[in-house]
This record gives sequence, C-alpha cells and structure tokens, in this order.
Amino acid sequence: MFSPRGPSLRELTVQALSSVEHGYDLLAPKFDHTPFRTPESVLEATAAALTGLGPFHRGLDVCCGTGAGLRVLDGLCPEGITGVDFSAGMLAQARAARPHATYVRADARSLPFTGEFDLAVTFGALGHFLPEERPAVFRGVHRALRPGGLLAFPIGSPPPITSVAYWAYLGFDLTMRVRNAVWRPPFVMYYRTMTLPAMRADLTAAGFDVRTVPLPVPGLARDGSITGLDGTGTARAHLVLAGKPG
Ligand SMILES: C[S@@+](CC[C@H](N)C(=O)[O-])C[C@H]1O[C@@H](n2cnc3c(N)ncnc32)[C@H](O)[C@@H]1O
Repeated sequence: MFSPRGPSLRELTVQALSSVEHGYDLLAPKFDHTPFRTPESVLEATAAALTGLGPFHRGLDVCCGTGAGLRVLDGLCPEGITGVDFSAGMLAQARAARPHATYVRADARSLPFTGEFDLAVTFGALGHFLPEERPAVFRGVHRALRPGGLLAFPIGSPPPITSVAYWAYLGFDLTMRVRNAVWRPPFVMYYRTMTLPAMRADLTAAGFDVRTVPLPVPGLARDGSITGLDGTGTARAHLVLAGKPG
C-alpha cells in the first residue's frame, strides 16, 4: 500500500492519534508517497473534463495539501492559482513544488475569500468534514467564487457490497468512529459520508446549480480509492460540477 519512501507503521500510528491538522503536519514530507494523495489519473481526467468549460482566470484549490489540485488549476487558470489548507506542513510542501502559487493557511469551514475565483476544486478532503460541517464549507466556496464560477470535484460511485473496497471503507470508517469515541483529539475522516445525494443536497442549499458528468479514470487499481472498475477497465466516478449562478 505504501512505497518504501512512505511513512512507517509507527509514524502512521502517531499521525492517526493526532488532530487532523497536526497529523497532516507530521505526514507532509512523505504524503506524496502515500495512497492518500490523489492519483495522477484522477487529476488528469479532471483536467480533461474541465478543459472547455472555461474560460477560467483565477483558481482555488480547497484543502490543497501538497498541491495535487494546483496541478490541475495550473493549466486552466492563467491569472493565478491559490491553495488553501490548515496544515502548515502540507502548505510548505506545496509551496516547494509550486512557488508561483499563492498559499493561504485557513480552515475550510470558514474560508476567507469573497468573489475572487472562477474555478474552485477540491480533492480527497471532503471526508474530513462531518455532514453537519459540510454546508459551511460549501457556503464558503460559493462566497469565494465570482458569479458564474464553478466548483468541481470527483466522487467515486459506491462500491458494490461484494467488492473489497466496500468492506475496506466500512472497516476504515468503523475504526475511525471507535478511535474518535475513545481518543482526543478526534481525527475525522469518514469515506462513507461522502455520497452524491448528500453532496448534491448540501451544494444546492449553499446556492449552487449542480450537475455531474462521468469521469473516466483509466488504470485505477481494482477496488482503488475512486472505487471499482466497470468491466471496461474504467473506474466508476463522476465529476461534480457545482455552478454559482451568474
Ligand atoms: C487527504 S489530504 C488531500 C490533499 C490533496 N488535496 C490531495 O488530493 O492530494 C486532505 C487535506 O485536507 C486538509 N484539511 C482537512 N481538514 C481541513 C480543514 N478543516 N481546513 C483546511 N484544510 C483541511 C488537510 O490538512 C490535508 O492537507
């Protein structure tokens, strides 16, 4: 699961017993060698799907981590890209990789932007928010966008109950719930709260017009993080396109 350059089991355990912010600070130098970093295939498929939906001028990567989404925005937003994250360690890694971007350390539940961006993306982070916290995140992105702006993020189809991924996600979420019941500070990361109907409802309530397009992601591992293969070697995933009315 982890490359030799990734974290050791001991390091992962220490990180998992920390807060989300401090856990990512600790993981940051090795994060790109973990499966938690969004795979290139997903980034490329997203960039391809967004090409032609613009023009975009300025882009925002919400919970940018080491900058996976900034790589997508780089080719789409010629007037500037911004990454926001609350982990100073993750931001330092992103800055080292893409010094030309702007970085803001902030909590995504209270984003400090108003009407600045045409395109916002977020990858791999929505599971860090409890369902009751998600509306604040989406309201903040809505506020950060200009009228006519777009929020885009990939979402995997639920894996079938017969798949390894189904049981892996269930096991992970149950483990996190037990951990959070007995240990402080909490580390919120629940895969199974990130369903398309829940996202659609929260985005609509925040003022977005929501549609989805299939996101062909070739080459993902069987039962990989974007879940499953559809029999043609293509992962079942969608790109959520949430538009702020113009
Ligand atoms: C799994 S990493 C994903 C990083 C990157 N987007 C990617 O796809 O590789 C999740 C990121 O979300 C950030 N994050 C989690 N909760 C956050 C919050 N409340 N405010 C800001 N950033 C947050 C973490 O610091 C971490 O960098």
